Amino acid sequence: METKNSPYSLGFRTLENEVLLDSLPVEGKIPEWISGTLVRNGPARFETAKANFRHWFDGLGMLHKFSFRNGKVSYANRYLQSRAYKKTLKTGKIHYREFATDPCRSLLGRVGSLFFTEFTDNANVNVTQIAQRFIAMTEAPMAVEFDINTLETTGVFDYGISSRCMSTAHPHYDVRQKSFVNYGLQFSRTCTYHFYQIPEDTQKRVITCSIPVKEPAYIHSFGMTEHFLILAEFPLVVNPIQIVLSGKPFIENFRWAPERGTRFWIIDKNDGKVLKVSETEAFFSFHHINAFERGREIFMDISGYPDASVMNQLYLDSVREVHKGEFAKTLFRRYRIPLNGNVANEEFRSREAIELPRIHYSRCNTQEYRWVYGVGVREKSQEDFYNQLVRLDVSSQEAQTWWEEGCYPGEPVFVPLPQSRSEGEGILLSIVLDSKRERSFLLILDARTLEEIGRAPVSHPIPFGFHGQFFGENE
Ligand code: CO
Repeated sequence: METKNSPYSLGFRTLENEVLLDSLPVEGKIPEWISGTLVRNGPARFETAKANFRHWFDGLGMLHKFSFRNGKVSYANRYLQSRAYKKTLKTGKIHYREFATDPCRSLLGRVGSLFFTEFTDNANVNVTQIAQRFIAMTEAPMAVEFDINTLETTGVFDYGISSRCMSTAHPHYDVRQKSFVNYGLQFSRTCTYHFYQIPEDTQKRVITCSIPVKEPAYIHSFGMTEHFLILAEFPLVVNPIQIVLSGKPFIENFRWAPERGTRFWIIDKNDGKVLKVSETEAFFSFHHINAFERGREIFMDISGYPDASVMNQLYLDSVREVHKGEFAKTLFRRYRIPLNGNVANEEFRSREAIELPRIHYSRCNTQEYRWVYGVGVREKSQEDFYNQLVRLDVSSQEAQTWWEEGCYPGEPVFVPLPQSRSEGEGILLSIVLDSKRERSFLLILDARTLEEIGRAPVSHPIPFGFHGQFFGENE
């Protein structure tokens, strides 16, 4: 069958250039008050001399940074010098187990590797700051430390996590306990879901909750309220032995088992005990958005897909082509979970698709809130990749959008106005691929209106990434 490259396939093309641009040209303006650095993470090399990565999630990670000062913005990008990257460049082969690409190994080699000792350190998903150190993260145990000024890789960030433990690249910060909180999945004959804390200014992991599980689910993020942690266990599950013996790449061992439904494990943060398990229909999600308590109920907001087929749509061969048929649609869903019942009820769903969701985190995490920002697919465009930015008002369920012909925006990061009084006062920063001009630009929108304030183009297309953070200079 003849296939045609999609206009946005440029966002899945390897970027060789590593550059440092002191001052980008600006159309419109950069607000004078913004001071600090946006660091974004994502795959940027999709093949080696001898092999191809198969999935968007597999490409070798690159950091991109936009630094703002006095109404000017600079740009730099650099590959993360992970072991996976260095070995691959040296030999032209793929050496570690990625999300959906495996190195070729004999059965004996696979069994000998004891689950995850050979899992990748290609930390291409997100970045964060722990104990004054900047790290790049993925779901594998290794985090990679980098220098925010030079983007140079400075080493492995070791926080005592077992090499057989998967984690998420979406840790929460708990203001009360002054700790980072994250989830881990320990692989063994019997697996265990863990939650752990890393107290602020330390690098040490303390396990706070452990739940044994026979067939664990794929978990990309989790929810947190003031008093509770929420593990949404979707019915995308795996028999752990399969991972060792099947010879298939990691994610392909998981199977969709809708008859299990989705289970919300509610864990008390005080003592780490499971308070209850609530059930609802089968669905799938990568990203929790926010959660909060009201009386004896938990409200949990999440970007939900009807099933896990989105995973298949993001194989590179598939996502680079023009398709007929619909791109998996992820909608904002709100679940109401009573603390004295066993059923979680869906309160509402958005009309607009919303993925890579962000909120004003420092102000609204665990609290009632109003605004969610994300990427979506414009309804009438019939394109099968994210081509608009969305702001959703969760109180009125109304959405506003930004889009431009031939443009494909990435995750919008909210930066609050200094001393802002209301939740929505600030700007959104998003890297947008301009497919017609074959380059990307940093887009700055007023978060209250989604009107453009300015844009700063770079000379190349930036491959589509996943997540980024803004690190303010005055914080
Ligand atoms: Co994510």
